[in-house]
Amino acid sequence: MDLLGLESLRSEDVLAYLDLAEHFVDEDQKVRTPPEYRDALDGETVALMFFEPSTRTRASFELAVQRLGAYPLVMMSQASSIKKGETILDTCQNLEAMGVRGFVVRHSERTLPSSLAERLDSPVFNAGNGTGEHPTQALLDVFTLRRYLGRRDLEGVNVSIIGDIIHSRVARSDVYALRALGAKVTLAGPSHLLPKQSEGWDAELATNRKDALAEADAVIMLRIQRERMVQDVDLDEYVVQWGVDEAVVRDEMKPNAVIMHPGPVMRGVELSSGVTDGDRSLILKQAANGVAIRQSVLLRSLAPQMV
Ligand code: CP
Repeated sequence: MDLLGLESLRSEDVLAYLDLAEHFVDEDQKVRTPPEYRDALDGETVALMFFEPSTRTRASFELAVQRLGAYPLVMMSQASSIKKGETILDTCQNLEAMGVRGFVVRHSERTLPSSLAERLDSPVFNAGNGTGEHPTQALLDVFTLRRYLGRRDLEGVNVSIIGDIIHSRVARSDVYALRALGAKVTLAGPSHLLPKQSEGWDAELATNRKDALAEADAVIMLRIQRERMVQDVDLDEYVVQWGVDEAVVRDEMKPNAVIMHPGPVMRGVELSSGVTDGDRSLILKQAANGVAIRQSVLLRSLAPQMV
């Protein structure tokens, strides 16, 4: 079973990933692997193919593979025969012939994960495809939020996603995951970085920070992705209009509302350091929970008999 995106998943599919991930977080909220899962993928190899930079996704997939007893084969495009002109599909088929059982793929090309999935026998896990989707990020986001709230679903919870929405694969997958669990989603940011309502996002739109924050129980802040932009953003202006610092948290957010961010955080732009490190921030819990979610994703595809 591939995991290419969340758009076509039903609520029960999303819940199945989250419920399995609960096995990998203990009562102290620490990520750990119970003994019965430590050899679940014993002897298997999973290729990690990252053609764009990554810290959290790559490291957490690598840890997840290792903690389930498998071997992570890290392929760097600059040091592989892709550099000599071999196609990514040919590379993957050669690795599959050597016994690789799964492919974690991050690439700027939106169609790459699905085209690989069509041609490979092994599961493909989308680790971010351009401005498409980032399904495991969204799963770890809703997992972190529901754990914080102590609930199984997010029915009636208000979540605002603020920042560079149109370039964000995280925003797209987050909307699918949040809506699948019953949350109400508001997308907010400068008008040229927001989708038009007609573009089919199942979310409300807000065009100023105050409106975006007023009812939010959780706020997911996003990085400005200058590398994907045609029209650049004035960062000083952006900080004034959309940045969240301690004063904004105090004056504009609900008392118990929490701050999330997929990372990497641009400190001093979308979030001040005080808010990033503050007691409302779930950012490091998101990073930790990413390992549990990726263990769940790998297990459901590669060892379904264990789930
Ligand atoms: N959230 C996320 O995808 O982070 P990385 O780019 O570091 O993997």
